[in-house]
Amino acid sequence: MNIKSALFASIILPIGLLITACSSTSDNTGVKERQDMMANWGDAMKVMGGMMKNPDTFDAAKFQEEAAFLATDAVKPWTHFADENSKGGATDAVWTDAAGFKAEADKFQQATAELNTAAQNATSTADVQAAFENVSASCKSCHTTYKQPN
Ligand code: HEC
Repeated sequence: MNIKSALFASIILPIGLLITACSSTSDNTGVKERQDMMANWGDAMKVMGGMMKNPDTFDAAKFQEEAAFLATDAVKPWTHFADENSKGGATDAVWTDAAGFKAEADKFQQATAELNTAAQNATSTADVQAAFENVSASCKSCHTTYKQPN
């Protein structure tokens, strides 16, 4: 074995195997990952929505926590839509209209960032009302086209 092939066997080959192993798991579907994330978003929206309905129960710290979670998590599910053979509860439009889907995902990231900002100094639901409604509208707007009805 010359130096180059020794190097290949000891370093490059294992790295290659590692990369192959990783990409084959993410190709595996991604459906469960993205559904779990969305389900967590649903939980966060329920907590915040409950306060919006009963403004007396507004808990600034809790609201901030949920808004920050949404803003951070908003970037995550989209890579799990890479495989068009793993439809899950998504419509074909996710793949036939990939640009439209990306636009909805971008809009959502923007809306959650704005809600997070509004939540930082909020002392009542009035301070987050508009931003919260924007996020909620963004969930619905994407689901209308890209999620199968329940
Ligand atoms: C850019 C598009 C988009 C946005 C924005 C979006 N969703 Fe979804 N959502 C989807 C798609 C597509 C599915 C279907 C995924 C699947 O089943 O593979 C889905 C599925 C879900 C599900 C079902 C998960 C399951 O267990 O099957 C819930 C709950 C959900 N979304 C909640 C939300 C909430 C709440 C928001 C906003 C805070 C939101 N989504 C924002 C596209 C979106």
